[in-house]
Amino acid sequence: MVRRRVAAIFGGRSGEHEVSILSARSVMQALDTDRWDVVPFGITRSGAWLTPAQTRQALAAGQRAFVGGGASFLSSSEALAALATCEVAFPLVHGTYGEDGCLQGFLEMAAMPYTGAGVAASAIGMDKALMKALFREAGIRTPRYAVVRSWELTAGGVQAQEYIESTLGYPCFVKPANGGSSVGVTKVRSREDLPGAFNAAFAYDDKAVVEEAISGQEVECSVLGNEAPEVSIPGEIVPDREFYDYDSKYDPRSRTAHNIPANIPQETADQVRELALRMYTVMGCEGYARVDFFVRNVTEVIANEVNTIPGFTSISMYPKLWEATGVSYRDLLTRILELALERHQRRARP
Ligand SMILES: Nc1ncnc2c1ncn2[C@@H]1O[C@H](COP(=O)(O)OP(=O)(O)O)[C@@H](O)[C@H]1O
Ligand SMILES: [Mg+2]
Repeated sequence: MVRRRVAAIFGGRSGEHEVSILSARSVMQALDTDRWDVVPFGITRSGAWLTPAQTRQALAAGQRAFVGGGASFLSSSEALAALATCEVAFPLVHGTYGEDGCLQGFLEMAAMPYTGAGVAASAIGMDKALMKALFREAGIRTPRYAVVRSWELTAGGVQAQEYIESTLGYPCFVKPANGGSSVGVTKVRSREDLPGAFNAAFAYDDKAVVEEAISGQEVECSVLGNEAPEVSIPGEIVPDREFYDYDSKYDPRSRTAHNIPANIPQETADQVRELALRMYTVMGCEGYARVDFFVRNVTEVIANEVNTIPGFTSISMYPKLWEATGVSYRDLLTRILELALERHQRRARP
């Protein structure tokens, strides 16, 4: 069997740098070595690319973050030359510059096949304001929301507050439009919490999304495919605290439970799976993505978000849901890489 060279790309400039390295470690360990020859590329916090040798060294030393180098990949010519020897890229950079279409655009320019969503779907998936507008347009139920820019708040904070109080009320959630891993997300219980919540969100983005709080279950599905995507059984997250924040996601002491399958009736599960495929299709996703929901009162399914580069450690929800649906982690990775090659071939036709 032909072994293809896979560029695993991880780390990067976002707040999810360390998580990305964990995802990449698991993926690289599990890749089927009969089929894939993995070449690792770490991106430092400032945006420089390490060579595969430097990356291997940093990983072997147990480094949890990559630092140093210039502020641009343009100064990383040795790493880029190594990238040019690869046949397919597996971007595992969560968040900004990795999951938002930037890295995907770079790979498009390089005419290199890559896993997961393309440029537009990545950009939409990363921007919660754009994503929600698209859901609304498609008649997909999502929490009521408002979009607030950082300069609108400084120009008229009271107005934003009044608007939020008259349309959404408390509790509500304030989040950076471009974010992930719950970084910068605050549950706002009263007017007093609002300025702090906006500060937290605007530390990451100039655009914030404010949403009505939905009290219910958090349910997720894994989707896989290009033209004919398939969907896993739904799983459920039961956070060990007020909401599914950064620590409940990643702190090893977190008691957050992952219930697979989700504790919902069959009809609700069917509805979740159908809606997951619709959200995936409406956004124009390809390859793979994790689709997240709220379920209120056991039966009401409300769209939360689509993650185009979801957490990918062996204990992450995305691969675990496939495992429970009958697809092993190793086979899943091979399928995701094949989908990248298939898409590239389809698009390369004259
Ligand atoms: N409208 C909402 N109602 C209830 N909980 C919410 C709402 N929005 C966010 N949350 C909580 O905050 C977490 C993170 O928000 P989310 O929008 O998924 O951002 P991220 O992209 O950072 O994961 C969710 O998993 C959920 O626990
Ligand atoms: Mg989320």
